Amino acid sequence: MSDRAQWHERHRARPERSAPSPFVARHAARVARRLPGAPALDLACGSGRHSILLAEHGFRTVALDYAASACRRVAEDDGRILAVVADAAALPFRATTFALIVQTRFLDRAIIPELLRLLVRGGELLIETFLVAQYEATGHPRRSFCLEPGELARLCGATAVAVEIVEMHEGLVGHGDDAAHLAAIAVRKV
Ligand SMILES: C[S@@+](CC[C@H](N)C(=O)[O-])C[C@H]1O[C@@H](n2cnc3c(N)ncnc32)[C@H](O)[C@@H]1O
Repeated sequence: MSDRAQWHERHRARPERSAPSPFVARHAARVARRLPGAPALDLACGSGRHSILLAEHGFRTVALDYAASACRRVAEDDGRILAVVADAAALPFRATTFALIVQTRFLDRAIIPELLRLLVRGGELLIETFLVAQYEATGHPRRSFCLEPGELARLCGATAVAVEIVEMHEGLVGHGDDAAHLAAIAVRKV
């Protein structure tokens, strides 16, 4: 079964929606104060924990996932959200569309330049995803989906789009079952 089909099956079972990442919650609240009512994208939205957070902050929210069941669930659970079934490798949006893009626990290194192109000037990209330390500790996710230390800042700084780093950190985040080795970055397009 393909990865996409596996995700579709997993989301069809409506797994419990975990709480938003504190990193995303803090920065989304800050960007909402600066750019109220702006368009925002939750990329690889999964259960929609961040799509719903963005909609609650008043963003005009698009949730995108390649698992149709994930999009169906998000659209059913929150009528404010536009859910789009698409592959992150072929994003169906024009340049300078979003004031905020959130991408958590998903990694496609090749699309970071495209994500920065999709931002309006002054818009922000929030990425939080696994470090190789997570793979080494648990065997999940695949090593190729995990970041080396320092890699996220390098990826965001290595495109033709000028950005400034608002905040970044790496390390073990959370407690108990929720603990994970994560890299997080907030960058603003200048
Ligand atoms: C670990 S879940 C993370 C979900 C959500 N971002 C969160 O943090 O709760 C990864 C999600 O990425 C989606 N995904 C994986 N590859 C994708 C791709 N190429 N395009 C779009 N979505 C993808 C999966 O369907 C799944 O919902």
